[in-house]
Amino acid sequence: MKVVPLTGSIGAEILDIDISSELAESVIADIRDVLLKHKVVFFREQNLTPERQIAFAKRFGDISTSPVYTTLKEHPEIMPVVKEATDRDIIGDTWHTDETFQQTPPMGSLLYARQIPSVGGDTLWANLGLAFDRLSDGMKERLMTMKAIHSNDFLTANAKARNSTRSTKLREDAPVMHSLHPVVRTHDETNEKVLFVNQPFTYAFEGMTREESLPLLSFLYQASSRPELTCRFRWRKGSLAFWDNRCTLHYACNDYSGERREMHRITIEGSVPR
Ligand code: SIN
Repeated sequence: MKVVPLTGSIGAEILDIDISSELAESVIADIRDVLLKHKVVFFREQNLTPERQIAFAKRFGDISTSPVYTTLKEHPEIMPVVKEATDRDIIGDTWHTDETFQQTPPMGSLLYARQIPSVGGDTLWANLGLAFDRLSDGMKERLMTMKAIHSNDFLTANAKARNSTRSTKLREDAPVMHSLHPVVRTHDETNEKVLFVNQPFTYAFEGMTREESLPLLSFLYQASSRPELTCRFRWRKGSLAFWDNRCTLHYACNDYSGERREMHRITIEGSVPR
């Protein structure tokens, strides 16, 4: 397999590989290494049935099921991410890390493109290790001792209204979930220090009100999504993105009015952030 970096900061395409085939353990280990280095990896021209996407995902860990979005009846491991041509809204169009309101947010997510618009519908990722690294020593020191409350209120409080304008459906019985996480996470496998806050799910710093927290949080959101920390992926039918959810943000671009986009997402079980 051949690895082609997308930018100097994050993302790489892995070429010459068919991920629907029975890959040797050594190839899976190589893919994992590329993922740890580049934080999001992309495969092109893959022909994946739901079963084959599930089988590939399982090589990297147990699958976690979305606690807030509906999943496919026949394949509960898969969360359909769909925008119909008549829909106005999508999910994911703010910079975010998946499901940080959980005690154990997913380790990674695999998103497979089944139908894409003729133009638009790109996804962007940002490198949260670099985001932390670029802060001043004083700010780093301060953040190292802080924790933040993450919550899914943003999604669940308005489930009915949100479901009325988009096809990726929230479960209306989704539980409200809160978790306390370190603001600076140490990556399980690389030990890299990573900024671990995101706009939709981080509610406030521990011991502070939301109003008190927002100025610093806003600064951190801006600092972590600077263009030089990001990559932007132009999908084709059959592309698959696999991101390390422990150290990235991502953003789905809603710029394809009147066209349909259909993706299948699978998330891999993570660990308690430390
Ligand atoms: C997501 O936020 O997981 C969806 C990303 C996308 O649709 O590109």
